[in-house]
Parts: sequence; structure tokens; C-alpha cells
Amino acid sequence: MVKFAVIGGNASRDLAKRIARRLKATYVETQTKIFPDGESMITFGRIPKKSAVIVVQSTYPPVDTNLLQALSIISEARKSSSKVYAVIPYMGYARQDKQFLSGEIITMSIVAKMIKMAGAKKVIFVDIHSKTGLNHFKITKENVSAIPELAKYFKKMKLTNPLVVSPDLGGSLRAKKFAGVLNTDFIALKKSRDRNTGKVQIHSSKADVRGRDLIVVDDIISTGGSIVKATQFLKRQKCKRVLVACTHGLFIGDAIRKMKNAGVSQIISTNTIPRSTSKVDVSGVIVESIQ
Ligand code: R5P
Repeated sequence: MVKFAVIGGNASRDLAKRIARRLKATYVETQTKIFPDGESMITFGRIPKKSAVIVVQSTYPPVDTNLLQALSIISEARKSSSKVYAVIPYMGYARQDKQFLSGEIITMSIVAKMIKMAGAKKVIFVDIHSKTGLNHFKITKENVSAIPELAKYFKKMKLTNPLVVSPDLGGSLRAKKFAGVLNTDFIALKKSRDRNTGKVQIHSSKADVRGRDLIVVDDIISTGGSIVKATQFLKRQKCKRVLVACTHGLFIGDAIRKMKNAGVSQIISTNTIPRSTSKVDVSGVIVESIQ
């Protein structure tokens, strides 16, 4: 049987502890000091001999700091073990997976190379933004989904004739999967984003949502712009409540307030990014991909 040691980086301590508990693995504590100039100094305890090491660190803001910390921990862990698994529940830069405008650098591809170079044997993500992003990794990779767990959370709620909504066509499969758990139907709105200004528009003409409780499901909520536009559109169609589910709640600036002002009654996310809305734990789905 493989002996595991789990190292939690500064960005994902609680999740790392949960993973360690589930695996009955040794939890290796890290200490992170941030110097006045922004540099990180990390120290960690002894890794038990002959262990496979799982490094857990999401790369939400400050993205580059958390990324560099992840790389440093992976690299240090590699000195003690030839089996280092990098668990990066939220993968920053995953939306920069291809060139949208001429001249753009595909940063996801550089990040993927760095993670391999640091010494990770396998990398595990939760709902990475796209398969294109995943393809940049030239090591063993796995993408696990938090959608069934999120859907189970909503299944326990008292909802009126629920309908699952994807704010864009790209999220149709996600919405379908979510709706499957709830045993209900789903729709996908048509959204476009101006690649220069970031401005979002909803183009769907009509949706039959009258009197229904809607669950808008997305992978990432960043500025909340997509959810605000979707909610305004759905409210105009006379739906009942709009509830929101996402895997990664970045919630930049006053995103939560903007969504609430638009009419969102509840926002639920997972602990890939620790937030007050993180009601769904992904340690179970991550552990399934390790064992
Ligand atoms: C885009 O394709 C993603 O799935 C999300 O819809 C997007 O990242 C959300 O960003 P924001 O909250 O800034 O609209």
C-alpha cells in the first residue's frame, strides 16, 4: 500500500488537512512568511521516508505568488520523493489556454511546463476551465468534477420546479450534469464577451422560466459580470428565485454585492477557494482520483 504525506500550501491548508484525514496520511505543515517586498519564504517539516507526496495549493489571487509557492513546495518535495502529486484545485491562468487576440501569450502552456519542471509526476485539478488547458500538461493529469457534489447540496433545498441554467453555451454539459442529479431540465444562454473590454452580453431571445426557481451554474465566478447579466435577463422573463452555484468563487472586488443587487438570492461555491460561500467540500472527489 502506498504511504502518503500531504503538504498544504498557504492557499489551501484546510483542504489539504481534509485530504490528509481521508487518506489517513501524514499532514506536513508549512509556514509561509511574506516579506515586505512581496517575496514568499516557505518552510516545512520533515517528510516521512518512502512516501508519495501530495502538494495541495490553489492558485487564486495573488495568483503569481500562490503559483510560485506551489512550484517551490513541489520542487522541495521532489528532493524527498520521486512521487509528487500536485493538487491544484483552482488552476489560475486556465482561461489563457489559447490565443483569442493576435499576439496574446498562451500563459497556461508556460505554467504547465513550470509545474512539470518543478518535479510533479501527476497533476490533479477540480473543474479546470477547459480541456484545451489540460492538454498543455505533458505529465499525467486528471480533472475531477465538483458538479455532482454542488448539485447534491442544492438537492437538499426546497426549490420550486427548479431549472438549471448555464450562463453560456460552453457550459451546457456542466448544466446537464447538474440537472441530472436534481432530476430536472436545463437551458444554456447565449453569451458573448468583448475580448478587449471584457464586457459581457446575453443574446438569448426568450426562456420559459416563469415561476421557476433557477440555479445558474458556472465553473468560475470572477467579477460576477456574467452572472449579473444572466440574472437580469432571467428576472425579465419572470422567473422566481435565482440561485447561483460555482466551483471556483474568485469574487473579485464587490462581485458578491453586484450579484445580490441584480437579484441573486443565494451563492454557493466549493472550498477550492476558501470563501464564506464555500459550503461544498471537494476533498472527497480529489481523494478518489489519488487512490
Ligand atoms: C468563462 O468562460 C467562465 O466560464 C466564467 O463564466 C467567467 O470566467 C466568469 O467571469 P466573470 O464573473 O468575470 O463574468
